[in-house]
Amino acid sequence: MSSDSTSLLIDPVRLPGLLGEASGRFNVVSLEECASTNTLLMQQAGEGAPSGTVLVADRQTAGRGSRGRHWVASPESSLTFSLLWRFPGGFDRLSGLSLAVGVAVVQALEACGASGVTLKWPNDILHGSAKLGGILVELQADPDPESEAALAVIGIGLNLRMPASIADLGACALLPTSLDRILSALPERHTLFACLLVELAQVLDRFSVGGFEVLREQWHACHAWQNRQVSVLRDGRVEKQGRCAGADVDGALLIETADGLERCLSGDVSLRPL
Ligand code: BTN
Repeated sequence: MSSDSTSLLIDPVRLPGLLGEASGRFNVVSLEECASTNTLLMQQAGEGAPSGTVLVADRQTAGRGSRGRHWVASPESSLTFSLLWRFPGGFDRLSGLSLAVGVAVVQALEACGASGVTLKWPNDILHGSAKLGGILVELQADPDPESEAALAVIGIGLNLRMPASIADLGACALLPTSLDRILSALPERHTLFACLLVELAQVLDRFSVGGFEVLREQWHACHAWQNRQVSVLRDGRVEKQGRCAGADVDGALLIETADGLERCLSGDVSLRPL
């Protein structure tokens, strides 16, 4: 683990004691600023960075959210990091990975005392109906055609405190919330970060062996819309309506409509209660 400056919000030197047995799984680099931890880590992955490399940044100048949105986060108010994980067995075994990551985030927040944190398919972290954070998973097949390996850059952004101006959170379809509104006292930043990494290692190990299937029931238990009547919108228009029956083993959303069980793949889809 390395640290560039003692003024950084995360000091990697403090992490091994908090990570315990998982300590050897991660190489954490703390940055004062970068464009986007996901973008930078994907670049480093292409240059051979090992599995378990983590970039945590105080500030991103071009943070990226899902569906091409910007991810705006202020240093003291948020925790923003990306984790590189390499998987054996190829690209197509990674479907449902961002949902699995959501399970790890909920478990970590629960371990830090937060209750009522849920997931909105495919990558939103909610409390009530407000957005507490988001997940951006980007995949890359190994460029070596002989290799069956694939890698994922797993980006996580969590709102710890509400920024002074709500405009600082950027455009978002959901109202924002923050961890300090859920907990009577915010966990110490290194403790929270270590908790997230420990849960991620456990979930990613299970995912590597059994895919999303082995985490599916846990995801259903965290799923904000499970068994609720929902509308699925595409480009602002209702595409499907029905009971949300969870996710299938590939991570596609299942909607029980008048025409039967229909799958929704990730993309430009959003959900609204009826
Ligand atoms: C979303 O739109 O909800 C996903 C947000 C993901 C943001 C994180 S912050 C760390 C990592 N680096 C980025 O540029 N994006 C992700």
